[in-house]
Amino acid sequence: MIQVIGLNRKPKIAIDGPAGAGKSTVAREVAKRLDLKYLDTGAMYRAVTLKVIRENLDLNNNEAVISLLNSTKICLGDLQEVFLDGEDVTEEIRKSYINEMVSPVSALSAVRRHLVTSQQKIASETDGIIMEGRDTTSVVLPHADYKFYLDASLDERTERRNREQLGKGITMTAEEVLAQIVKRDSIDSEREDSPLTVVPDAIVIDTTNLSFEEVVSEIIRFIDIGL
Ligand code: DC
Repeated sequence: MIQVIGLNRKPKIAIDGPAGAGKSTVAREVAKRLDLKYLDTGAMYRAVTLKVIRENLDLNNNEAVISLLNSTKICLGDLQEVFLDGEDVTEEIRKSYINEMVSPVSALSAVRRHLVTSQQKIASETDGIIMEGRDTTSVVLPHADYKFYLDASLDERTERRNREQLGKGITMTAEEVLAQIVKRDSIDSEREDSPLTVVPDAIVIDTTNLSFEEVVSEIIRFIDIGL
């Protein structure tokens, strides 16, 4: 049994940060080492974005957005598979055309309310969870036992995204990747509803010059766990 010292339950941990800061890979590894459930909230926004694109939905039509959300089922598997209405869309939601649209879709309050409600339900039903996204420290889990904000320089985040895209066989120029990140950063942090922000009680880790292992160890070091 893994516990936060002083608690008789496993911890709830929230990690936020901009695109390309390495949140997903780090959060997944920390969850594995500490035997916690991992929830990638961005995957839920990506799945909704895929459906919005497929249905050619007008984002200004709030009623249509709400109706789409109410008729959509998103399931996340333990191996990070993502199912949209029963279809495995794990790979599809990582494609560049989703990157292009996910920030505007995520800025819609109706979408945020809907997904935050289900994320909070999952957290309340799970003993021990790491949630990662843009508003998990501020909105989804404001009372998390630990809050982290992972950051990295724009150059480093672009470089990481570049490597990731190449690994998937996606060919984009470095300039295109940079432009996409800059655009997403500005929409994610300037939107009115729950923008990406550093909450006062977050532990901020600049990962620019840290290896993957160093970031994982740093996070685990902060988590006071009685193993
Ligand atoms: O972490 P990611 O790149 O998969 O997230 C995709 C987008 O989803 C991100 O640009 C903004 C949105 N998002 C959000 O608004 N709130 C979250 N908690 C997670 C992601």
